[in-house]
Amino acid sequence: MSRPDYAEKIPNNVGLAEDRRLQRALESWQPDFLSWWETMGPTLPTQDVYLRTAIDVRGAGWAQFGHVPMIDYRWGIFLADKNPDRRVAFGAHKGEPAWQKVPGEYRAELQRLIVIQGDTEPASVEQQRNLGATAPSLYDLRNLFQVNVEEGRHLWAMVYLLHAYFGREGREEAEELLHRNSGSADSPRILGAFNEETPDWLSFYMFTYFTDRDGKYQLGTLKESAFDPLSRTCEFMLKEEAHHMMVGTTGVDRVVERTAQVMVENDTDDVAALGVIPLNVIQKYLNFHYSVSLDLFGGETSTNVANYYTAGLKGRWLEERRKDDHQLTNDSIMVDALIEGEIAQNEVMALTGLNTDLRREYVADCSGGVKRWNRILEEAGLAQRLYLPHVAFNRKVGAFAGIEASPSGEKLTASEWEARKGQWLPTDTDKTFVRSLMQPVYERGKIAAWVAPPRNGINGQPFDYDYVHLA
Ligand SMILES: [Fe+2]
Ligand SMILES: [Fe+2]
Repeated sequence: MSRPDYAEKIPNNVGLAEDRRLQRALESWQPDFLSWWETMGPTLPTQDVYLRTAIDVRGAGWAQFGHVPMIDYRWGIFLADKNPDRRVAFGAHKGEPAWQKVPGEYRAELQRLIVIQGDTEPASVEQQRNLGATAPSLYDLRNLFQVNVEEGRHLWAMVYLLHAYFGREGREEAEELLHRNSGSADSPRILGAFNEETPDWLSFYMFTYFTDRDGKYQLGTLKESAFDPLSRTCEFMLKEEAHHMMVGTTGVDRVVERTAQVMVENDTDDVAALGVIPLNVIQKYLNFHYSVSLDLFGGETSTNVANYYTAGLKGRWLEERRKDDHQLTNDSIMVDALIEGEIAQNEVMALTGLNTDLRREYVADCSGGVKRWNRILEEAGLAQRLYLPHVAFNRKVGAFAGIEASPSGEKLTASEWEARKGQWLPTDTDKTFVRSLMQPVYERGKIAAWVAPPRNGINGQPFDYDYVHLA
């Protein structure tokens, strides 16, 4: 059951061949997906790419690597193995057997959660579609395409659930997932950060570090879901996400490393003219991507999320490792709040503060990245440091959406913000400068001057491997 069947049109380990209706429904969605990929997916023409394809859900052999034309990538449906004894770990249904079907009373909420998650997957492919034209190396180009095909597979994962468990409405939602487009004026993607463009590779690394990481935390909460097929799908998606996190983490590492090198060699901060990205510009990109990603966690308090938790639809990050009653009816949490117009904190019921709980886990994870980038600066002998801006900085969602604040958390008037925001967020000049560095390097073993080469290649291959054959 767990080994996907590659003889089938849609590789899967969900027994699709035994459900003719579902198989036909998905087979009729498949050409729409492929035409979406051709019109909204990567624009750089390629012959083939050295890609990882999921072939199993277990152990070290879960993926195979090989050169494949992207349009022939085997997008499939893979769920982590079923634990027949799995029980609901939290909320009002704690201790009951996990659900194999959607309970009627939670149908609308579950469908909504799946649609929102599903919408982000193709959105990022759309945001990144033009990056191939400016790839700093074949290694990076390959990683971009790997992330893209896997986000496409994550769309399949959500579409499978919609088709298999939500009837006609689910099929209509699956169609809509291909019709909304990132940045579109009349039918944009659902969440704000997924309508921002990813115009250059510094943005791409920051996006895969900060925004994909939000995805990791959202998947982590859905992996806890009482609805077992959703849980198993997310568990397997998280395995693929680990690579996306690696692309972001090491991508920013390599930019910082190269900048630090040039700063030391020339004994100056002013490295723009030397063809690398100045630290203050890196900081501005970090500020932007971190703050828009914080918005993805929603408001500090939410009764919807409290209800999702109590119903068993969405748990906490690493729910089973938490040492409490997993119902939280008597607990409280401190959340960020605007009190009499000032940045402060407020005690609320733990259930309504669950967005804050998840965001706190995320922030702690993000500070791990900053620490490692600062270690690179330290090892280069530089005194400068990167930092995460204050949670009130540049927010469009939540308690601080209505105010302006500096990265250190000092409240600003609208005119102070206008006067100073260019010090903290990428200006048009910064963006134009970063874009001017983005000249493609497609030669094997070569790399653009603004970024250091990676320490390791992919799947044990060297950096100068022929990761991509251009058309
Ligand atoms: Fe994804
Ligand atoms: Fe991802």
